[in-house]
Amino acid sequence: MPSDWNPWDWEGYRLDQQPDWPDPEALSAVLKELATRSPLVYPSEIEELRGSLAKAANGKAFVLQAGDCAESFHDHSATAIRAKLKVILQMAVVLTYSSGVSVVKIGRIAGQFAKPRSSPMEEVDGVELPSFRGHIVHADEATAAARRPEPERLLRAYEQSRSTVQILKALTEGGFSDLSQAHMWNLDFVESSPEGERYEAVAAEIDRALKFMAACGIDLSTEEVLHKVDIWTSHEALLLGYEAALTRRDRSSGRYYDLSAHSVWVGERTRSLDGGHLRFVSGIANPIGIKVGPTMAAAELLEICEMVNPDRIPGRLTLVSRMGTGLVEERLPELVRAVRDAGHPVVWLCDPMHGNTFTSETGYKTRRFEDIFAEIASFFGIHRRLGTWAGGVHIELTGEDVTECLGGSLEVLQSELCRAYDTICDPRLNARQSLDLAYRVAELLIH
Ligand code: PEP
Ligand code: CO
Repeated sequence: MPSDWNPWDWEGYRLDQQPDWPDPEALSAVLKELATRSPLVYPSEIEELRGSLAKAANGKAFVLQAGDCAESFHDHSATAIRAKLKVILQMAVVLTYSSGVSVVKIGRIAGQFAKPRSSPMEEVDGVELPSFRGHIVHADEATAAARRPEPERLLRAYEQSRSTVQILKALTEGGFSDLSQAHMWNLDFVESSPEGERYEAVAAEIDRALKFMAACGIDLSTEEVLHKVDIWTSHEALLLGYEAALTRRDRSSGRYYDLSAHSVWVGERTRSLDGGHLRFVSGIANPIGIKVGPTMAAAELLEICEMVNPDRIPGRLTLVSRMGTGLVEERLPELVRAVRDAGHPVVWLCDPMHGNTFTSETGYKTRRFEDIFAEIASFFGIHRRLGTWAGGVHIELTGEDVTECLGGSLEVLQSELCRAYDTICDPRLNARQSLDLAYRVAELLIH
């Protein structure tokens, strides 16, 4: 932590991508209220995640960070959260079972509400409106009144996040995520697909392995790793008032932790060296992600590493490459080389979503499964060539049967995007496409 840092001093810095709050006093009142609420996560959990990420920084674990582009106030339910958890658990099983590498599971969940936008205005059905910045700021309906920022939404986002954390805890501690339940994680609409059938075979082998261990006299009920599945929470730290209000000083260590999530990241549009976002995250002890897009220069990236992780603590800093499949070969190698040569112990993740978005002929914002996989394959190839570890992937997905991204083994066509295009922000992989991707990434991990 910089010696003169405090959780609110970002207010004196340049701030990109902030909503234009019409009533600053109402915002202050809400932030004061938020600061009295209880934490969503605990320092000991955050330290446990940092330890797991340190293994990934060291080439001994693989990270799967996944979830919605933007969580929604419309569809908050235990059923939807369970579906999302199922997909993430399935992907993790496929990755671990195929490669023998342990997988650190992090959701874009329980706080992933605020969205940065490329343009402050957007056109919807011929009407010019303030761009949608997430339900934590305003409603998504296409009217000027709906797009007016409302500070009370920060409290609603907090309450929904709290409920999401509780649901996740109930599921993971209640046995739902035990490996012995792996059969149960196939979603109805996935079960009969080729990926679903392939998954069933893996689940059956896991069952056999568990039975074998039991027959050898190993008491599986006492093997914690089989029962205690950790799924950590993360989101983009975009609205720093929300983050600062939930930041607390840990008495025993004296460190500040942002207790809104286990880990937070700084997005591609807010990562400037002189900005409030990097200032804020440099003072909290959580694991931090930084998005790294095609305009990042090696010298700038090294300055960011020095600023966010001056003590070079493994697991503290994750760099999330999001170049797009067309630019990754050109832009990523020099950055990986520079960080490697400077000796920074980072985890490199590949976000193959945000550099591969385009608008379909039918007018939908979409991504091609093949582009997503191609960027991941390049990412692995680059790390292999440079002798560094491809530490994981960062994916936008959902447990619902949506048609938002094109392709996959049961191909979604342009003409089908309209069937179930439900996202309030970016297009997500559906559960079948996610599982398909996990098989293909597993092959890269083995070779
Ligand atoms: C996101 O992760 O949803 C996002 C907006 O990413 P980026 O900052 O990389 O564009
Ligand atoms: Co997104």
